[in-house]
Amino acid sequence: MKKHNFSAGPSILPDVAYQNAAKAILDFNGTGLSILSISHRTKEFEDVLNSAQALMRELLGIPENYHIYFVGGGASTQFFHIPANFLGKKAGYVNTGVWTKKAIKEAKLYGEVEVVASSEDRNFCYIPKNFDIPADLDYLYICTNNTIYGTEYKVDLDSPVPLIADMSSDILSRPIDVSKYALIYGGAQKNLAPAGVSFVIIRDDMLQKVVRPLPTMVNVNTHVENNSMFNTPPVFPIFVMNETLKWIKSIGGLEVMYKMNVEKAKILYDEIERNSLFRPTVDEADRSLMNICFVMAEGKEDLAPEFLKFATERGMVGIKGHRLVGGFRASCYNALPKESVEALVACMQEFEQLHK
Ligand SMILES: Cc1ncc(COP(=O)(O)O)c(C=O)c1O
Repeated sequence: MKKHNFSAGPSILPDVAYQNAAKAILDFNGTGLSILSISHRTKEFEDVLNSAQALMRELLGIPENYHIYFVGGGASTQFFHIPANFLGKKAGYVNTGVWTKKAIKEAKLYGEVEVVASSEDRNFCYIPKNFDIPADLDYLYICTNNTIYGTEYKVDLDSPVPLIADMSSDILSRPIDVSKYALIYGGAQKNLAPAGVSFVIIRDDMLQKVVRPLPTMVNVNTHVENNSMFNTPPVFPIFVMNETLKWIKSIGGLEVMYKMNVEKAKILYDEIERNSLFRPTVDEADRSLMNICFVMAEGKEDLAPEFLKFATERGMVGIKGHRLVGGFRASCYNALPKESVEALVACMQEFEQLHK
């Protein structure tokens, strides 16, 4: 049976990335060696790393005064790398759910945290807007796409202080204005690669803003100065990331990717609104294109386990919602084909017929 992979992460990657990764595991680039077994210091791997950086720069339109590096440890490592480097006195955080809460907890180890806005009052079902950003903050921290709650910022904020964003789950899903951010980072295991690598895009002036002596691996300068090669970078995830970036370029870049994502999300949100058995959980203006959350309609809550079983039997994978929201979450990352969204919609319609 065809599987439709709606997993929140690690998640679906483009077929061509799987195919080229499989080939490279057996013979990387005609070297007679596996990508799993080559030195990161080889010219062949350096070419992969440089290509991934160049493609990311091209696709996101990253200005010249920004550096890109790749590092292990997952996005959660950046939760403390960022305040360790940049929180001298006080930082501002917008609290939009679990991933910002975790970042706030780490930041408090280094200095004062001001939560400048929060959507906790309604279980994080919206993105706070029109909040004041004090000018005395070392930086303002946001998470642009909240993987668990299915909310997403639709604009690049204007901030009077350096803006730092966790883009783990919406990077490269749409064009962004990188120049509005001082630092963008994320784990790669949603839209880019298998788990094991994070990307960091950092504006040059931030390198002089490190506020304290730090262990070498924590200091952002280490990774920029050594072009991601201070220690052994996650070779295989970086290889796959490069393949994914090539695929995004081949389909026409981020404008095209964004259009495809809008189309997929519309198909599913429209059905959630139409279908008498389901309802959305997020305010309309803030609905994520990547993580689409929905629950059973009022009075139909008891049907949730039955729908999960019904959909699973029809090949839907990973649609159970996070326990903090309940219901369902269909993650529709870049590589998820429109056919998978249509298959889920067909499933929801069939289920509605059964319960008329
Ligand atoms: C938005 C966001 N930030 C951070 C993380 C944590 O990433 P990692 O598991 O790579 O530490 C996740 C994981 O799902 C996430 O969705």
